[in-house]
Amino acid sequence: MDTSNRYGDFRSSEPASQPVSGSGQEVIESSQMILKIVKYPDPILQQPGEPITEFNDELRQLVADMFETTYASSGVGLAAQQVGVAKRVTVIDLSLGKDPAQRLVLVNPEIIFREGKQYEEEGCLSFPEIREKISRAAKVRIRAQDEYGKWFEMDGEELLARAFQHEIDHLDGIVFLFRMSALKRNLNLRKIRKMQSEGAW
Ligand code: NI
Repeated sequence: MDTSNRYGDFRSSEPASQPVSGSGQEVIESSQMILKIVKYPDPILQQPGEPITEFNDELRQLVADMFETTYASSGVGLAAQQVGVAKRVTVIDLSLGKDPAQRLVLVNPEIIFREGKQYEEEGCLSFPEIREKISRAAKVRIRAQDEYGKWFEMDGEELLARAFQHEIDHLDGIVFLFRMSALKRNLNLRKIRKMQSEGAW
């Protein structure tokens, strides 16, 4: 299955690969933890994140753990709210951990430009089994800080643009369920309640 025209901090059908250590770049020898992913309707998912003001080791450990958690779930992105932390930090890696150059850390990100429309399927690690087409801008430019506090701007289109919008929504306390039409939202809420009653959520 081609994931290139899909977005999600979703489970992909491809197995997650472990990040390679000792491959050229300086590798920080710290232990990374797989964190528990919070599922809807945990209220933290609808809580806007606090801006990050301290760029310290604690933040960088959170970022490392969030990447580890994303890879363990075969996801391509994760927002802090999804691991129970209401702060404005998200990680994205469209390569599912295969290409270190694609690891993106967005701290205090904002969308400063958007253009066009796209309508593609998304998933979310906080909504296992739920996939739905969501209307998004086709291209966006974001401004964000990295885990050391350095500001940068970056353009994204297609899948990357969807990732930016999906994850920044999380930081604003908006889950993709609320980007769906009322009809689709209600269908998916019913599906979630059914899974909950079966102990599958
Ligand atoms: Ni999500």
